[in-house]
Amino acid sequence: MGERGLSGKVIYLDNAATSFPKPKEVWDAVLNYACSIGANPGRSGHRLSVEAARLVFNCRRALAELLGVSACDRIIFTKNATEAANVVIRGLLEGVGGGNVVATCLEHNAVARPLKYWCRREDIELRVVSCSPSGEVNPKKVLEAVDESTIAVFVNHASNVFGTVTPFEDIAAFVSVPVVVDATQTLGSYPFSVGDFSNVIVVFTGHKGLLGPQGTGGFYIPEGIELDPLIRGGTGSNSESDEQPSFLPDRFESGTLNVHGIAGLLAGIRWIKSRGIENIRKHELELACLFVEAVSSVKGVDVYASGDWSRRIGVVSLNVRGRDPGVVSHILDSEYGIATRAGLHCAPWAHRALGTYPVGTVRFSFGPFNTESDVEEAVRAVKNIGEGANGC
Ligand SMILES: Cc1ncc(COP(=O)(O)O)c(C=O)c1O
Repeated sequence: MGERGLSGKVIYLDNAATSFPKPKEVWDAVLNYACSIGANPGRSGHRLSVEAARLVFNCRRALAELLGVSACDRIIFTKNATEAANVVIRGLLEGVGGGNVVATCLEHNAVARPLKYWCRREDIELRVVSCSPSGEVNPKKVLEAVDESTIAVFVNHASNVFGTVTPFEDIAAFVSVPVVVDATQTLGSYPFSVGDFSNVIVVFTGHKGLLGPQGTGGFYIPEGIELDPLIRGGTGSNSESDEQPSFLPDRFESGTLNVHGIAGLLAGIRWIKSRGIENIRKHELELACLFVEAVSSVKGVDVYASGDWSRRIGVVSLNVRGRDPGVVSHILDSEYGIATRAGLHCAPWAHRALGTYPVGTVRFSFGPFNTESDVEEAVRAVKNIGEGANGC
């Protein structure tokens, strides 16, 4: 591991923050681009630049296939899901002045904060739809909040706190306004398809389920929805004009792309495809299920993972009664070598809805490289901490 303090075995159960480890193929691809290609895509005409452009295109195409859409040029690269959400939200709301937007209470701050900002600025009413005690959003309740003044609907496809999936299809099918789906926690580890929807915008990240390097992400925008770019500048196209190109993806992709990251992301997507998303999902869900079954019977431990397992990802939140989640997470790390995340997970609305605000929860999130033995170790640790806290 190299850095100070990173000695010893770590059981990494923080894949919802970023996936780790990544497949070796991801780093091979980054290194191959860095050492053998290295050039700027879409700028020069030499073979290295052309090869870099090909690589970027291949990644765009792989993402389009993953989303089930045909228009590769409508996949836009950003540096993460947060940037993607900001472009989309500003693009949809700036200058609107009035009306309302509907969002689920499971939205991450990547969506919630820009939404709050633009709603305040544009005098737009923000309607937040609550969830069940086990973190499930009923699509009917979302639809009930929509009316003729609704500008857009925001749906977090899977909660990074509770692991619950909201079927965006059951919302998009019944509204004509744009439905912005935050697929950050599902792409790569849960079946996903935009299908025939012409009103679904998808925001995603590259460094979680897609197994790409950090600094990668993007969004998909369907034909017919026009947005203003967040930044303007050089695109390597239409350089004679002072105006930003109107065509995609150039309209949104000014400046040099993170081609190192995109090379790794492409390898991550290929790795996922070779394993099969259904198999990855099954593996992660089996581990999460084993974990929940075992820790649910520990006295003094509250597990927030009831409900329908067919609509879940491998993310489990819990609390040890009487113990701060930050302390529990620290003990897990320092005494058991188990990496988890504590707190609000950048999703305060979700914790308010479930009564875990402001302390939050300890989150265990499983990835493709975790094993049953990782789960056994985590269960043993939670039992020890729980029983210690309850004086057993
Ligand atoms: C549901 C959800 N949306 C958005 C984000 C932000 O992702 P990024 O770090 O790529 O900006 C996260 C990250 O945790 C997330 O879980």
